Amino acid sequence: MKINGFLQDVLGSSRVVKARRELISSGSETAVFRDPINDVARELHPDTTHIKVTKVEDVSPTARKYTFEADQGDVLPPFQCGQYVSIDLKIGDTLTTRPYSICSAPFEARTGEHPFFEITVRNGRPGVGFASCWFYENVRAGDTFTAHLPFGQFYYEPLRDSRNVVALAGGSGITPFYSMAKEIEHGTLDIDLTILYGSVSTKDIILEKQLKAIRSDKVHFVNVISGDEAYDGEKGFLTAELIRKYSKGDTTYFVCGPLAMYHFVKGELDKLGVPSRRVRMEVFGAPRDIASAEGYPQDFKPQTFRLHVMRGIQEDIIEASSLEPFAVALERAGIKNRTRCRSGACGFCRCQVLDGEVFVPAEGDGRRMADKEFGFVHACSAYPLTECTI
Ligand code: FES
Repeated sequence: MKINGFLQDVLGSSRVVKARRELISSGSETAVFRDPINDVARELHPDTTHIKVTKVEDVSPTARKYTFEADQGDVLPPFQCGQYVSIDLKIGDTLTTRPYSICSAPFEARTGEHPFFEITVRNGRPGVGFASCWFYENVRAGDTFTAHLPFGQFYYEPLRDSRNVVALAGGSGITPFYSMAKEIEHGTLDIDLTILYGSVSTKDIILEKQLKAIRSDKVHFVNVISGDEAYDGEKGFLTAELIRKYSKGDTTYFVCGPLAMYHFVKGELDKLGVPSRRVRMEVFGAPRDIASAEGYPQDFKPQTFRLHVMRGIQEDIIEASSLEPFAVALERAGIKNRTRCRSGACGFCRCQVLDGEVFVPAEGDGRRMADKEFGFVHACSAYPLTECTI
């Protein structure tokens, strides 16, 4: 009985081996297996989406809102209020990407005859905001781009956040809250949103007309002006006192704005004893002046180093300024470098430092512990202090 069973096993397996060989020899050279789960994932998170500018509108004396629709038969992927899109740009010889918060509401990208999404770009100051200046000055209706979306964790999550939300915004940090306000008005986001929007003067307010047009008793919009004593409304900064005035019981605070505002607002929330689980901070881009970042080596003179870039067996030697992150040096040299958040948070631009010393600012250090251990850095947030090899 046992011998019979053994023989059957041997014969059975030899039949399987033969059938397998026949299948392999008659098969295609290329893989044809399609996994329906992967197909759905690819639709939800396509690697790239072709987009076209359909409208450009001034939303302040220094900011423009850009409307995009999908191009070349692509479909806009779903996103959440507060997420961002990363757009590929070619500026002169430089290939770069820039993240922009989506300021339109998610429902607008999945309904209507022409689903769309929008971003708002503020004109940079000379020498600061190189890509924003270029975008503001050059992009027109009809222009086409390749985009990657959605990205980011800066969205309301009912399992984690209170339904009372106070948004603390500054500058173009208002954009994710306009998206939330529209989604609330549409009835597809069930939160109570109070927006405290800090600006120096009324001229700096972005999307004011659009925010004031929102019709919902769950959206409250308050301008806070710091540079005009004659302003007839809330004056000064986003202080603990002001934040307390507009908070109702258990509240989650969403903070989005320039880096200086983060430091200030964080201190004010600490004064109120707000636990960190009730504070959501949007990533804030590279520091404007790395030499003044906390922990930067004192008396270090700005200089340009050689940067050895190893890709497989290919080595390129390029120049890298100590004042700019590796990602910028790579882009200047025309070396493709995948970036998304450009704030050190997402890890898309991760690379390994094989030799040399770098500075990584604490605020832009989103690396995993193991990455730190083995010398990996995020190229958008690593500044050379010596000649380096990556
Ligand atoms: S682009 Fe996100 S970490 Fe560098």
